[in-house]
Amino acid sequence: MVVGAGVIGLACAWRLARQGLAVAVFDPSPGRGSSWVAAGMLAPVTELHHGEEPLLALTLASARRWPGFAAELAGATGRHVGYDDSGTLLVAGDADDRRWAQELHRYQVDLGLAVEWLTPRRARQLEPSLAPGIAGALWAPGDHQVDNRRLLAALGAAVGSAGAGLFTERVAAVETAGGRVTGVRTAAGHTVAAPRVVLAAGWGSASLQGLPEGLVPPVRPVKGQILRLRHRDGSPRLLGRTVRALVQGSVVYLVPRADGEVVLGATMEEMGDDTTPTAGAAYQLLRDATRILPGVSELAVAELAAGLRPGSPDNAPVVGAVPAGSGADGLVIATGHHRNGVLLAPLTADAVAALVTGGPEPPETAPFGPARFAAMPRPSRA
Ligand code: GLY
Repeated sequence: MVVGAGVIGLACAWRLARQGLAVAVFDPSPGRGSSWVAAGMLAPVTELHHGEEPLLALTLASARRWPGFAAELAGATGRHVGYDDSGTLLVAGDADDRRWAQELHRYQVDLGLAVEWLTPRRARQLEPSLAPGIAGALWAPGDHQVDNRRLLAALGAAVGSAGAGLFTERVAAVETAGGRVTGVRTAAGHTVAAPRVVLAAGWGSASLQGLPEGLVPPVRPVKGQILRLRHRDGSPRLLGRTVRALVQGSVVYLVPRADGEVVLGATMEEMGDDTTPTAGAAYQLLRDATRILPGVSELAVAELAAGLRPGSPDNAPVVGAVPAGSGADGLVIATGHHRNGVLLAPLTADAVAALVTGGPEPPETAPFGPARFAAMPRPSRA
Protein backbone atom coordinates (compact mmCIF):
# COMPACT_ATOMS: atom_id res chain seq x y z
CA MET A 1 0.00 0.00 0.00
CA VAL A 2 1.22 3.48 -0.86
CA VAL A 3 -0.11 6.59 0.91
CA GLY A 4 0.22 9.56 -1.46
CA ALA A 5 -0.12 9.85 -5.23
CA GLY A 6 2.27 12.66 -6.03
CA VAL A 7 5.25 12.00 -8.22
CA ILE A 8 7.02 10.06 -5.45
CA GLY A 9 4.06 7.88 -4.45
CA LEU A 10 3.13 7.12 -8.06
CA ALA A 11 6.70 6.28 -9.07
CA CYS A 12 7.03 3.95 -6.06
CA ALA A 13 3.66 2.33 -6.81
CA TRP A 14 4.65 1.76 -10.44
CA ARG A 15 7.93 0.10 -9.52
CA LEU A 16 6.24 -2.10 -6.89
CA ALA A 17 3.34 -3.13 -9.13
CA ARG A 18 5.72 -3.99 -11.96
CA GLN A 19 7.45 -6.41 -9.61
CA GLY A 20 4.17 -8.27 -9.25
CA LEU A 21 3.11 -6.92 -5.85
CA ALA A 22 -0.55 -6.09 -5.20
CA VAL A 23 -0.47 -2.31 -4.75
CA ALA A 24 -3.18 0.12 -3.64
CA VAL A 25 -2.47 3.87 -3.72
CA PHE A 26 -4.51 6.28 -1.57
CA ASP A 27 -4.73 10.02 -2.15
CA PRO A 28 -7.77 12.33 -2.01
CA SER A 29 -6.38 14.40 -4.93
CA PRO A 30 -4.01 12.21 -6.93
CA GLY A 31 -1.31 14.17 -8.70
CA ARG A 32 -2.68 17.55 -7.62
CA GLY A 33 -0.29 18.49 -4.82
CA SER A 34 3.16 20.04 -5.11
CA SER A 35 4.04 17.71 -8.01
CA TRP A 36 1.35 19.43 -10.09
CA VAL A 37 2.47 22.96 -9.25
CA ALA A 38 6.18 22.14 -9.80
CA ALA A 39 8.30 23.23 -12.77
CA GLY A 40 9.93 19.86 -13.52
CA MET A 41 13.58 20.95 -13.38
CA LEU A 42 16.14 18.17 -13.08
CA ALA A 43 18.87 20.47 -11.83
CA PRO A 44 21.38 18.94 -9.42
CA VAL A 45 24.10 21.41 -10.47
CA THR A 46 22.36 24.78 -10.71
CA GLU A 47 20.06 24.09 -7.75
CA LEU A 48 23.01 23.13 -5.53
CA HIS A 49 23.40 25.06 -2.29
CA HIS A 50 26.56 25.33 -0.16
CA GLY A 51 26.74 22.57 2.43
CA GLU A 52 24.48 20.19 0.48
CA GLU A 53 27.21 17.78 -0.74
CA PRO A 54 25.46 14.69 0.71
CA LEU A 55 22.28 15.66 -1.12
CA LEU A 56 24.29 16.22 -4.32
CA ALA A 57 25.32 12.54 -4.45
CA LEU A 58 21.64 11.67 -4.35
CA THR A 59 20.46 14.21 -6.92
CA LEU A 60 23.24 13.31 -9.38
CA ALA A 61 22.45 9.60 -9.05
CA SER A 62 18.77 10.22 -9.77
CA ALA A 63 19.56 12.56 -12.68
CA ARG A 64 21.54 9.71 -14.27
CA ARG A 65 18.46 7.48 -14.04
CA TRP A 66 16.16 10.00 -15.69
CA PRO A 67 16.72 9.21 -19.41
CA GLY A 68 16.05 5.50 -18.81
CA PHE A 69 13.08 6.23 -16.53
CA ALA A 70 11.46 8.52 -19.13
CA ALA A 71 12.05 5.98 -21.90
CA GLU A 72 10.63 3.15 -19.78
CA LEU A 73 7.53 5.19 -18.97
CA ALA A 74 7.04 5.97 -22.65
CA GLY A 75 7.45 2.29 -23.47
CA ALA A 76 4.92 1.26 -20.81
CA THR A 77 2.29 3.87 -21.62
CA GLY A 78 2.96 5.35 -25.06
CA ARG A 79 3.10 8.75 -23.31
CA HIS A 80 6.06 11.09 -23.54
CA VAL A 81 6.93 13.22 -20.55
CA GLY A 82 8.79 16.00 -22.35
CA TYR A 83 12.25 14.99 -21.16
CA ASP A 84 14.45 17.80 -22.46
CA ASP A 85 18.24 17.68 -22.24
CA SER A 86 19.00 21.12 -23.65
CA GLY A 87 20.79 22.22 -20.45
CA THR A 88 20.40 25.10 -18.03
CA LEU A 89 21.84 28.59 -17.81
CA LEU A 90 22.22 30.25 -14.42
CA VAL A 91 22.26 33.99 -15.06
CA ALA A 92 23.64 36.71 -12.76
CA GLY A 93 21.50 39.85 -12.91
CA ASP A 94 24.04 42.41 -11.68
CA ALA A 95 27.59 42.67 -10.33
CA ASP A 96 26.65 41.47 -6.83
CA ASP A 97 24.74 38.54 -8.29
CA ARG A 98 27.83 37.76 -10.38
CA ARG A 99 29.99 37.54 -7.24
CA TRP A 100 27.50 35.05 -5.81
CA ALA A 101 27.43 33.06 -9.05
CA GLN A 102 31.23 33.00 -9.31
CA GLU A 103 31.46 31.76 -5.73
CA LEU A 104 28.96 29.03 -6.59
CA HIS A 105 30.98 28.24 -9.72
CA ARG A 106 34.16 27.72 -7.63
CA TYR A 107 32.23 25.40 -5.32
CA GLN A 108 30.82 23.44 -8.27
CA VAL A 109 34.24 23.12 -9.91
CA ASP A 110 35.76 21.91 -6.60
CA LEU A 111 33.10 19.21 -6.56
CA GLY A 112 34.04 18.17 -10.11
CA LEU A 113 30.71 19.22 -11.64
CA ALA A 114 30.30 19.92 -15.36
CA VAL A 115 29.78 23.66 -15.43
CA GLU A 116 31.28 26.53 -17.40
CA TRP A 117 31.44 30.28 -16.74
CA LEU A 118 30.12 32.37 -19.63
CA THR A 119 30.54 36.08 -20.33
CA PRO A 120 27.30 38.02 -20.91
CA ARG A 121 28.06 37.96 -24.63
CA ARG A 122 28.42 34.16 -24.71
CA ALA A 123 25.28 33.74 -22.63
CA ARG A 124 23.36 35.94 -25.07
CA GLN A 125 24.67 33.92 -27.98
CA LEU A 126 22.99 30.91 -26.37
CA GLU A 127 19.86 32.84 -25.40
CA PRO A 128 19.53 36.03 -27.49
CA SER A 129 16.47 37.29 -25.58
CA LEU A 130 18.44 37.75 -22.36
CA ALA A 131 18.76 41.40 -21.34
CA PRO A 132 21.94 43.13 -22.56
CA GLY A 133 22.73 44.19 -18.98
CA ILE A 134 23.15 40.72 -17.45
CA ALA A 135 26.44 40.25 -15.62
CA GLY A 136 27.42 36.71 -16.66
CA ALA A 137 26.14 33.15 -16.47
CA LEU A 138 26.93 29.58 -15.56
CA TRP A 139 26.29 26.94 -18.19
CA ALA A 140 25.27 23.53 -16.85
CA PRO A 141 24.68 21.18 -19.80
CA GLY A 142 23.70 18.28 -17.54
CA ASP A 143 20.74 20.04 -15.84
CA HIS A 144 17.61 19.02 -17.73
CA GLN A 145 13.83 19.27 -17.39
CA VAL A 146 10.69 17.23 -17.76
CA ASP A 147 7.05 18.31 -18.08
CA ASN A 148 5.79 17.46 -14.58
CA ARG A 149 2.12 17.41 -15.60
CA ARG A 150 2.74 15.00 -18.48
CA LEU A 151 4.84 12.98 -16.06
CA LEU A 152 1.99 12.70 -13.57
CA ALA A 153 -0.40 11.61 -16.33
CA ALA A 154 2.07 9.02 -17.58
CA LEU A 155 2.75 7.68 -14.09
CA GLY A 156 -0.99 7.44 -13.39
CA ALA A 157 -1.44 5.44 -16.59
CA ALA A 158 1.59 3.25 -15.83
CA VAL A 159 0.35 2.51 -12.31
CA GLY A 160 -3.04 1.47 -13.70
CA SER A 161 -1.66 -0.69 -16.46
CA ALA A 162 0.72 -2.40 -14.02
CA GLY A 163 -2.36 -3.50 -12.07
CA ALA A 164 -2.27 -1.15 -9.06
CA GLY A 165 -5.48 0.39 -7.70
CA LEU A 166 -5.83 4.13 -7.12
CA PHE A 167 -8.29 5.20 -4.39
CA THR A 168 -9.30 8.78 -3.58
CA GLU A 169 -9.99 8.24 0.11
CA ARG A 170 -7.86 10.23 2.54
CA VAL A 171 -5.73 8.14 4.87
CA ALA A 172 -5.99 9.42 8.44
CA ALA A 173 -3.86 6.89 10.33
CA VAL A 174 -1.36 4.10 10.00
CA GLU A 175 -2.45 1.05 11.98
CA THR A 176 0.00 -1.13 13.88
CA ALA A 177 -0.21 -4.26 16.02
CA GLY A 178 2.51 -6.33 17.65
CA GLY A 179 5.23 -3.96 16.49
CA ARG A 180 4.26 -4.16 12.78
CA VAL A 181 2.12 -2.11 10.44
CA THR A 182 -1.16 -3.82 9.66
CA GLY A 183 -2.62 -1.27 7.25
CA VAL A 184 -4.27 2.14 7.36
CA ARG A 185 -7.50 3.75 8.51
CA THR A 186 -9.17 6.21 6.16
CA ALA A 187 -10.80 9.49 7.16
CA ALA A 188 -14.14 7.82 6.44
CA GLY A 189 -13.32 5.22 9.08
CA HIS A 190 -12.51 2.26 6.80
CA THR A 191 -9.67 -0.02 7.76
CA VAL A 192 -7.58 -1.32 4.86
CA ALA A 193 -5.21 -4.16 5.69
CA ALA A 194 -1.69 -4.23 4.26
CA PRO A 195 1.49 -5.96 5.45
CA ARG A 196 3.64 -3.06 4.22
CA VAL A 197 2.92 0.64 3.96
CA VAL A 198 4.90 3.21 1.98
CA LEU A 199 4.33 6.67 3.41
CA ALA A 200 4.73 9.13 0.51
CA ALA A 201 2.21 11.82 1.40
CA GLY A 202 4.55 14.81 1.06
CA TRP A 203 4.32 17.32 3.91
CA GLY A 204 1.05 15.64 4.99
CA SER A 205 3.10 12.59 6.03
CA ALA A 206 3.71 14.36 9.35
CA SER A 207 0.03 14.60 10.22
CA LEU A 208 -0.90 10.93 9.98
CA GLN A 209 -2.03 9.50 13.29
CA GLY A 210 -0.98 6.17 14.71
CA LEU A 211 2.76 6.29 14.12
CA PRO A 212 4.82 5.35 17.17
CA GLU A 213 6.69 8.15 18.96
CA GLY A 214 9.80 9.16 17.00
CA LEU A 215 8.63 7.77 13.63
CA VAL A 216 6.67 10.80 12.48
CA PRO A 217 8.78 12.22 9.62
CA PRO A 218 9.87 15.77 10.48
CA VAL A 219 8.51 17.43 7.37
CA ARG A 220 6.79 20.79 7.03
CA PRO A 221 5.11 22.64 4.17
CA VAL A 222 7.26 25.17 2.28
CA LYS A 223 5.05 27.25 0.02
CA GLY A 224 6.11 27.81 -3.58
CA GLN A 225 4.18 30.04 -5.97
CA ILE A 226 4.55 29.60 -9.71
CA LEU A 227 3.21 31.46 -12.72
CA ARG A 228 2.43 29.55 -15.90
CA LEU A 229 2.82 31.80 -18.92
CA ARG A 230 2.21 31.06 -22.61
CA HIS A 231 3.55 32.35 -25.88
CA ARG A 232 0.78 33.89 -27.93
CA ASP A 233 -0.05 32.18 -31.22
CA GLY A 234 2.68 32.73 -33.78
CA SER A 235 4.98 34.70 -31.47
CA PRO A 236 8.66 33.70 -31.49
CA ARG A 237 9.96 31.54 -28.65
CA LEU A 238 11.76 33.52 -25.95
CA LEU A 239 13.99 30.71 -24.70
CA GLY A 240 15.57 27.54 -25.98
CA ARG A 241 16.43 26.10 -22.59
CA THR A 242 15.85 26.54 -18.87
CA VAL A 243 17.17 29.77 -17.39
CA ARG A 244 17.65 30.19 -13.68
CA ALA A 245 18.75 33.59 -12.41
CA LEU A 246 19.82 35.51 -9.39
CA VAL A 247 18.32 38.99 -9.54
CA GLN A 248 19.40 41.33 -6.76
CA GLY A 249 19.74 38.34 -4.49
CA SER A 250 16.43 36.64 -5.42
CA VAL A 251 16.31 33.34 -7.27
CA VAL A 252 13.92 33.06 -10.21
CA TYR A 253 13.65 30.47 -12.95
CA LEU A 254 12.02 30.16 -16.36
CA VAL A 255 11.36 26.72 -17.81
CA PRO A 256 10.23 26.71 -21.46
CA ARG A 257 8.15 23.83 -22.77
CA ALA A 258 7.93 22.58 -26.34
CA ASP A 259 4.19 23.47 -26.46
CA GLY A 260 4.81 27.18 -25.82
CA GLU A 261 4.34 27.22 -22.04
CA VAL A 262 6.92 28.99 -19.86
CA VAL A 263 6.89 28.09 -16.16
CA LEU A 264 8.11 30.96 -13.98
CA GLY A 265 8.96 30.19 -10.38
CA ALA A 266 9.18 30.15 -7.51
CA THR A 267 8.76 31.64 -4.08
CA MET A 268 10.01 29.90 -0.92
CA GLU A 269 7.67 30.78 1.94
CA GLU A 270 7.28 29.38 5.44
CA MET A 271 3.53 29.93 5.69
CA GLY A 272 2.22 26.67 7.11
CA ASP A 273 -0.40 25.01 4.93
CA ASP A 274 -1.50 28.21 3.15
CA THR A 275 -1.95 27.66 -0.60
CA THR A 276 -3.37 31.06 -1.50
CA PRO A 277 -1.76 32.50 -4.63
CA THR A 278 -0.89 36.13 -3.91
CA ALA A 279 -0.51 39.29 -5.96
CA GLY A 280 2.79 39.98 -4.18
CA ALA A 281 4.30 36.71 -5.40
CA ALA A 282 3.17 37.35 -8.98
CA TYR A 283 4.70 40.83 -8.78
CA GLN A 284 8.00 39.54 -7.37
CA LEU A 285 8.35 36.77 -9.96
CA LEU A 286 7.52 39.05 -12.90
CA ARG A 287 9.71 41.89 -11.63
CA ASP A 288 12.75 39.60 -11.37
CA ALA A 289 12.06 37.67 -14.58
CA THR A 290 11.59 40.77 -16.73
CA ARG A 291 14.92 42.19 -15.51
CA ILE A 292 16.81 39.36 -17.15
CA LEU A 293 14.32 38.53 -19.91
CA PRO A 294 12.28 41.62 -20.83
CA GLY A 295 10.20 39.70 -23.39
CA VAL A 296 8.42 37.91 -20.55
CA SER A 297 6.04 40.86 -20.33
CA GLU A 298 4.62 39.90 -23.77
CA LEU A 299 3.59 36.41 -22.65
CA ALA A 300 0.02 35.52 -21.75
CA VAL A 301 -0.74 34.61 -18.13
CA ALA A 302 -2.26 31.14 -17.91
CA GLU A 303 -2.13 30.33 -14.20
CA LEU A 304 -0.82 31.41 -10.81
CA ALA A 305 -0.64 28.50 -8.38
CA ALA A 306 0.84 27.68 -5.01
CA GLY A 307 2.14 24.30 -3.88
CA LEU A 308 3.61 23.02 -0.63
CA ARG A 309 7.01 21.35 -0.86
CA PRO A 310 7.72 18.82 1.89
CA GLY A 311 10.75 20.40 3.61
CA SER A 312 12.92 18.47 6.07
CA PRO A 313 15.39 19.78 8.68
CA ASP A 314 18.40 19.19 6.38
CA ASN A 315 16.64 19.87 3.05
CA ALA A 316 17.17 16.23 2.07
CA PRO A 317 14.50 13.56 1.66
CA VAL A 318 13.60 10.89 4.16
CA VAL A 319 13.79 7.58 2.28
CA GLY A 320 14.07 4.31 4.11
CA ALA A 321 12.51 1.63 6.24
CA VAL A 322 11.85 2.57 9.86
CA PRO A 323 14.39 0.95 12.19
CA ALA A 324 13.55 -2.65 13.10
CA GLY A 325 11.90 -2.87 16.49
CA SER A 326 10.68 0.73 16.48
CA GLY A 327 7.06 -0.36 16.60
CA ALA A 328 6.08 -0.17 12.93
CA ASP A 329 8.09 -2.82 11.07
CA GLY A 330 6.97 -2.92 7.45
CA LEU A 331 6.71 0.87 7.21
CA VAL A 332 8.83 2.55 4.53
CA ILE A 333 9.03 6.33 4.43
CA ALA A 334 9.53 8.33 1.22
CA THR A 335 8.94 12.02 1.82
CA GLY A 336 10.77 15.30 2.48
CA HIS A 337 11.89 15.74 -1.14
CA HIS A 338 11.51 19.51 -0.83
CA ARG A 339 12.80 21.21 -4.02
CA ASN A 340 13.75 17.92 -5.69
CA GLY A 341 10.69 15.68 -5.86
CA VAL A 342 10.58 15.30 -9.64
CA LEU A 343 14.35 14.90 -9.89
CA LEU A 344 14.52 12.28 -7.13
CA ALA A 345 11.52 10.20 -8.24
CA PRO A 346 13.43 7.51 -10.20
CA LEU A 347 16.00 6.85 -7.49
CA THR A 348 13.44 7.01 -4.67
CA ALA A 349 11.19 4.54 -6.48
CA ASP A 350 14.05 2.09 -6.99
CA ALA A 351 15.08 2.43 -3.34
CA VAL A 352 11.54 1.90 -2.06
CA ALA A 353 11.01 -1.11 -4.32
CA ALA A 354 14.24 -2.63 -2.99
CA LEU A 355 13.31 -1.91 0.64
CA VAL A 356 9.87 -3.47 0.22
CA THR A 357 10.98 -6.54 -1.72
CA GLY A 358 14.26 -7.16 0.10
CA GLY A 359 16.47 -6.32 -2.88
CA PRO A 360 19.68 -4.30 -2.62
CA GLU A 361 18.99 -0.64 -1.82
CA PRO A 362 20.85 1.85 -4.05
CA PRO A 363 23.89 2.96 -2.00
CA GLU A 364 23.07 6.65 -2.52
CA THR A 365 19.81 6.52 -0.54
CA ALA A 366 21.23 4.60 2.44
CA PRO A 367 22.34 7.74 4.37
CA PHE A 368 18.87 9.30 4.05
CA GLY A 369 16.80 6.92 6.13
CA PRO A 370 14.44 8.07 8.89
CA ALA A 371 16.84 6.99 11.64
CA ARG A 372 18.96 10.11 11.11
CA PHE A 373 16.26 12.16 12.84
CA ALA A 374 15.64 9.67 15.64
CA ALA A 375 17.18 11.84 18.36
CA MET A 376 15.47 15.00 17.19
CA PRO A 377 12.89 16.44 19.59
CA ARG A 378 9.40 16.40 18.01
CA PRO A 379 6.48 18.59 18.89
CA SER A 380 3.85 16.65 20.81
CA ARG A 381 0.68 15.89 18.84
CA ALA A 382 -2.04 16.06 21.46
N1 GLY B 1 12.92 22.92 -7.66
C1 GLY B 1 12.23 24.12 -7.85
C2 GLY B 1 11.54 24.62 -6.67
O1 GLY B 1 11.46 23.96 -5.65
O2 GLY B 1 11.08 25.74 -6.73
